[in-house]
Amino acid sequence: MDPTLDTLLQQELAALDAVHRRRRLRALSCVDGRLQDTSGRILIDTSSNDYLGLSQHPLVKARAAEWAARHGAGAPASRLVTGTRDITLAVEEKLAAFKGCEAALLFSSGFQANATVIPALAKVGAGGTAIFSDALNHASIVHGCRAARAQTQVFRHNDLSHLDDLLRGHAGKPGRKLILTESVFSMDGDRADLPALVALAEGHGAALYVDEAHASGVLGPQGRGLAAECKGGVDIVMGTLGKAFGAFGAYVAGSRALIDWLVNACPGFIYTTALPPAVLGAVDAALDLIPGMDHERAQLARNSQRLRDALALRNYDTLNSTTQIVPAVIGSEADALAAARRMEDAGILVIAIRPPTVAPGTSRLRLTLNSALGEDDMQQLLAAVADL
Ligand SMILES: Cc1ncc(COP(=O)(O)O)c(C=O)c1O
Repeated sequence: MDPTLDTLLQQELAALDAVHRRRRLRALSCVDGRLQDTSGRILIDTSSNDYLGLSQHPLVKARAAEWAARHGAGAPASRLVTGTRDITLAVEEKLAAFKGCEAALLFSSGFQANATVIPALAKVGAGGTAIFSDALNHASIVHGCRAARAQTQVFRHNDLSHLDDLLRGHAGKPGRKLILTESVFSMDGDRADLPALVALAEGHGAALYVDEAHASGVLGPQGRGLAAECKGGVDIVMGTLGKAFGAFGAYVAGSRALIDWLVNACPGFIYTTALPPAVLGAVDAALDLIPGMDHERAQLARNSQRLRDALALRNYDTLNSTTQIVPAVIGSEADALAAARRMEDAGILVIAIRPPTVAPGTSRLRLTLNSALGEDDMQQLLAAVADL
């Protein structure tokens, strides 16, 4: 054993503690779909990404149980060995149809997809790939850019004229260009201007990769995401299944050639065990339900606006949020933690988001709503905000 390792780790942790950036795991239980802390107190959940409440939907739970009973608890191998079952292919076909794409490929998680698909794309063609990535892209996208070892230029958040300048600066150079963005940004709750990004990508001969983790199920026609509004303009659509789908895992959708290439070149797909039947069953049921949930989506949008209005009355900056993700910028780490404690005293579970997840000085409460919140829950939340 290394006698110095634990001592050094303790020193690192103490340094994080000193600046209020240490993260701690906290146990909560789920009782009849409600969150309960260890003292038995029920808390209103405004921190999860289960935007349509599907993780608790009877049909989703039943199909997960049914497929596990019929097909087994686990997948037996990676997809290229014996992990590609008929149910796996059927769910992929259903996902592709949902996203309006030729084909789709399942991944074990969104992190794994972004971290490994981007490098697999960057090695296509001669002359290398230059990557252009939004400054607020998720950590998994940043990871993918680093793993790609490609030249990566970061454009200011949602600043398409900055992106245009960077693309112009690259004109005439050999190789390919790849633009990376989220359609809804996970910490600010604002949207990318996808039609403008599609036009820019086409104008500069670049491919466009869009992470729809927080849009799929919630936004776009029948919840199909924002890329669905730009028919055929987005080359690579990535999304997660652990958020509005209420399940687990992720997917990439696009052309048949894209999916066939990833099957051959993406290590995060090749060298990992397939998704288990219970997860596939849950995703299959979610895909049956999501297109018909316009009522829930409208209610979510209305409640998100009520929350933004309540925060604005208390002079909180909600940035450019227009979605179910509503930040309330506080500033320092310590103040954000204190605000989260105060909300919890009022029965609302909300997590303080601090650096390095967000920029120093912009620590915040990140409130996320879901359509399962009832009017009583909303009243309690709005009262807690009014007292904050
Ligand atoms: C924008 C975005 N992409 C990817 C991920 C990762 O997805 P997963 O939780 O499935 O690993 C997240 C999750 O927080 C996210 O917010």
